[in-house]
Amino acid sequence: MNTPPDLREDGRALAQIQPYAEEKHRLLMYYASLFARAIRDKWDSIVYLDLFSGPGRATIDGSNRIVATSPLLVLGLDDKFDRYIFVDADSKNVAALKARIAEEFRHLATLVKKGDINQMASEVISAMPIPGKSRKVLGFCFLDPYRMSNLRFSTIRELSQRFMDFLILIPTGMDAKRAEQYYVQSKNKTVDLFLGDDRWREKWKEEKRVDGDYGDFIVREFTRSMNSLRFLGTDLTDTVPVRNDKNSIVYRLAFYSKDKLGIKLFKQSKKYSKLQIDLFE
Ligand SMILES: C[S@@+](CC[C@H](N)C(=O)[O-])C[C@H]1O[C@@H](n2cnc3c(N)ncnc32)[C@H](O)[C@@H]1O
Repeated sequence: MNTPPDLREDGRALAQIQPYAEEKHRLLMYYASLFARAIRDKWDSIVYLDLFSGPGRATIDGSNRIVATSPLLVLGLDDKFDRYIFVDADSKNVAALKARIAEEFRHLATLVKKGDINQMASEVISAMPIPGKSRKVLGFCFLDPYRMSNLRFSTIRELSQRFMDFLILIPTGMDAKRAEQYYVQSKNKTVDLFLGDDRWREKWKEEKRVDGDYGDFIVREFTRSMNSLRFLGTDLTDTVPVRNDKNSIVYRLAFYSKDKLGIKLFKQSKKYSKLQIDLFE
């Protein structure tokens, strides 16, 4: 898979990302590509859902590069999905993404919606093709929040009514560890809502006593919640830690599927995207 070329300014909204976000994008592209290739024959319809989509392009902090981001990267892959659904809470991002899709990807079946995904799960589900006896539909859903308060576990629970694999950014370093002192307060519901469970404080107290890491703890508790919905994986070591230039982990990318094939493909994607990074370094 070739690295997409840098882009020119087109006068529309741009996100601003850190250089390490390109690692996230690389992993997403590998997995989306493998998914579309390996799974396509087994299902009648495959759908890509990007529910924290952003505007589709970004400048990289500290450089003058403009790059495509998750929605446009996946739309641009050779291996296509049958439908693409995008959601973003920011109206400027939505307008920019719609315009960019109209310019480059008009031929693909896309839907871009503005709103808070935590209020829109049922709308998103109804935008997917309707499954039937002779029509099996599988989704691949990328959830890329800035912070835990952007995403509620109840949203994932609702989306999981349909067959769906998830790649989820868990903001362990840039959010969880920075704000732990606020999140542990019982009046703060951020982590309760992110995990879909309010019984974590006692467990964390015990782990903290033996020098536990709050970011790792959140990943394990989140995985426990996913397991309760019958998703396989993900051990902490199965997740992909993404580091900043000071070598601190800013977030982890975690993958969840109910199917062993999905887990196998994710392991493959991890290996390929790691190889790419090693080649560039
Ligand atoms: C980290 S950025 C996503 C970037 C993009 N996926 C990429 O590859 O660069 C998070 C995006 O989610 C949007 N957002 C934040 N909270 C949201 C929510 N509750 N529902 C939908 N979108 C949200 C923000 O406007 C922002 O564009």
